[in-house]
Amino acid sequence: MSFIELKNINKIFHSETEDAYHALKNINLKIKSGDFITIIGGNGAGKSTLLNAIAGTISIDSGNILINDKDISKTKEYERASYISRVFQNPLDGTAPRMTVAENMALAIRRGERRTLSTGVKKSDLSVFKDNLKSLNLGLENRLDTEIGLLSGGQRQAISLLMATMKKPELILLDEHTAALDPKTQKNIMRITDEKIKEKNLTAFMITHNLQDALEYGNRFLVMHHGEIVRDISSKEKKNGLFNVEIETPTTNSDGAFSVTS
Ligand SMILES: Nc1ncnc2c1ncn2[C@@H]1O[C@H](COP(=O)(O)OP(=O)(O)OP(=O)(O)O)[C@@H](O)[C@H]1O
Ligand SMILES: [Mg+2]
Repeated sequence: MSFIELKNINKIFHSETEDAYHALKNINLKIKSGDFITIIGGNGAGKSTLLNAIAGTISIDSGNILINDKDISKTKEYERASYISRVFQNPLDGTAPRMTVAENMALAIRRGERRTLSTGVKKSDLSVFKDNLKSLNLGLENRLDTEIGLLSGGQRQAISLLMATMKKPELILLDEHTAALDPKTQKNIMRITDEKIKEKNLTAFMITHNLQDALEYGNRFLVMHHGEIVRDISSKEKKNGLFNVEIETPTTNSDGAFSVTS
């Protein structure tokens, strides 16, 4: 039994107009619990649209999204947010800048619970937050009272990752979450990502433009092109190097920005 199933998903933007764009074309995918899926593809291939469809940020035109055999296609984004967490490309997106590190983390452990007006941090939570921050090895355990907006992008992404995983989600969606960071910090955030996914046995989708990361991490690798999944490569194939992925520029490839050969 698959844990997540996408059945014939279609998304057409501006369907009633001349600008109609078929961003997701009959996507079918079965995912097992604990799968860590990396997704690569040229600009506009439909990667973010796919994650937005799963998270409920956009509605789909046809098809079904099932989690544990339950059809969630018609549920609202905020309902799905109680079991689907996300980390975005922009470090500013995942956290509340005027709130402290501890207050942000307190919100994260209450994800999916009925909102209260208080952003209060319970004393008993503080040691949990400290331990979590320590695991990042960035010295952030001493910054619990710092407003998050004062931290660097990399520090914020590390905390966003913690916030997305502290209360175990059924699914975590990462959309180019290291792209805005310098190379050293990118490596660090990828290390933390992999550690958290393994430690909590999370089911994850990770979009990246970094081919090396897409190949190094995860147990399954998807290539998207023009709204379709054009390659679906297992970890065994990855390990054995039984395929080649070529990224070409649109000028050298009349089919588009991306081509895959095997
Ligand atoms: N809300 C929207 N309204 C209209 N068109 C959209 C919307 N979101 C995405 N699109 C279009 O759908 C196509 C796929 O976009 P998407 O953002 O999924 O690409 P992507 O693979 O994530 O690309 P990138 O690597 O640049 O992030 C693009 O042509 C985009 O313009
Ligand atoms: Mg995108």
